[in-house]
Amino acid sequence: MENLIGDLDVLNPQDTETCETIHVSKDGNTGNKRKLYIESYGCQMNFADSEIVASILQKEGFDTTSDIATADVVFLNTCSIREKAEQTVRHRLVHINGLKKHKPELLVGVLGCMAERLKAKFLEEEKIVDLVAGPDAYRDLPTLISQVDDGQKAVNTFLSREETYADISPVRLNSNGVTAFVSIMRGCDNMCTFCVVPLTRGRERSRDPKSIVAEATDLFAKGYREVTLLGQNVDSYKWSPEENNKAWLEKNGSSNVVNFANLLEMVAQIHPDLRVRFSTSHPKDITDEVLYTMAKYENICKNIHLPMQSGSTRILELMNRGYSREWYLEKAKSIRHILGDDCGISSDMITGFCSETEEDHQDTLTLMDIVQYDFAYMFYYSERPGTLAAKKFEDDVPLDVKKRRLEEVVTKQREHSLLRNQLDVGKVHRVLIEGFSKRSEDDLQGRNSSNKVIVFPRGTHRKGEYVNVFVEECTGGTLIGRVVNS
Ligand code: SAH
Ligand code: SF4
Ligand code: F3S
Repeated sequence: MENLIGDLDVLNPQDTETCETIHVSKDGNTGNKRKLYIESYGCQMNFADSEIVASILQKEGFDTTSDIATADVVFLNTCSIREKAEQTVRHRLVHINGLKKHKPELLVGVLGCMAERLKAKFLEEEKIVDLVAGPDAYRDLPTLISQVDDGQKAVNTFLSREETYADISPVRLNSNGVTAFVSIMRGCDNMCTFCVVPLTRGRERSRDPKSIVAEATDLFAKGYREVTLLGQNVDSYKWSPEENNKAWLEKNGSSNVVNFANLLEMVAQIHPDLRVRFSTSHPKDITDEVLYTMAKYENICKNIHLPMQSGSTRILELMNRGYSREWYLEKAKSIRHILGDDCGISSDMITGFCSETEEDHQDTLTLMDIVQYDFAYMFYYSERPGTLAAKKFEDDVPLDVKKRRLEEVVTKQREHSLLRNQLDVGKVHRVLIEGFSKRSEDDLQGRNSSNKVIVFPRGTHRKGEYVNVFVEECTGGTLIGRVVNS
């Protein structure tokens, strides 16, 4: 596993799309005059939102740029999930302050979860910030920008119960032209006690399935071959044609409700060559119907991100996760039973949550031994202001203990990732090519159905093609092979 980021705050063995990764806008060339530079932090949902922001502003005369020095407007799309994520943004603002000294007319805006959490306080705390917009306020950005043009500071952190940006066709900023993210819902109604997301993203709402299918169909027509359906808890996706309103649905019910399994099927039917992935599943909500739908369609990738957080039922209760260790293990068993051993299972883990004992920590390690995750994002607990845990519990595990436990979890995951990858050696995998390998343009890379990165000599193949690759060897993070009979 190569990518050990920071002081073990996160371990991400394969994918670079994780919390605290930064994405920078690409150069657009629609001939627009003003230049917009967006830097995105946090999760895939933030990256997808930046594409919505770029789309809204393109209509207002902005082109995106990858060079901050040429920008008229700089937006940081921020994350609040852990303290470190917020600190990164604060440091970045110090740097941008330097740029603004040479270019006083530069408009600096803070978007996303940190904007939502701190609201107008941001303007007091960070004098260089001109504009603050929360995740549901992006349609208002043109107005907010004109307020700043008129010499005022601008803030909109209103959280909506309806906004899904369903009609907005995102400008693909982070794209390799082959894989794309499609948001299917926003917000989160779970109240995991450690988590700031319900405070920063508001109430859960699902996007009209017609607009999701239309977006995925359009992506396929443009040459994309994989979509990842995004939501904080995709298994609670629920949309009714009568009225997309949870309270109404609970009261009246509806025979026409589209659930996540139905949506998956609708997207899978667009074309057999369009792969479908999704993230994130919640162990308490993923249904067998979803698993059987995955089994039914070859093009729904066999990989489930099923964050466990802790292996101790006592800690899971304090976290308000809504499942026990035993429940989680049953889910993992159902996945293996319905989708087979090749199905990838990944997880998120937090060490050192309030009152976590060595015994609780051992429960996490033993659960990992049973499930044997393909990979995991791992963190030590970071108390977030305003969360239930911050209000109710003491953050009483010393930092050095949190970090030591994290290291133990990371070491275990390393072993498991290698073991799981070794099982793939000697087999043929269908790979969607995403581009050159990170190390050399003589090699290409793509992923198999279970989300493993596979590197192989390029030959005459190109990105966007499917090839069959015989895997000959592996590391903990990558499978290495050669193309056979494709
Ligand atoms: N909706 C997803 C998680 C989104 S946040 C789910 O429910 O699984 C991504 C991950 O960040 C979480 O799974 C959790 O492991 C981690 N995380 C969230 N809040 C955290 C905190 N306060 N400290 C440390 N890690 C945290
Ligand atoms: Fe946070 Fe829990 Fe919602 Fe995930 S399900 S976003 S961890 S509150
Ligand atoms: Fe961060 Fe907000 Fe995503 S807090 S992880 S950017 S939903």
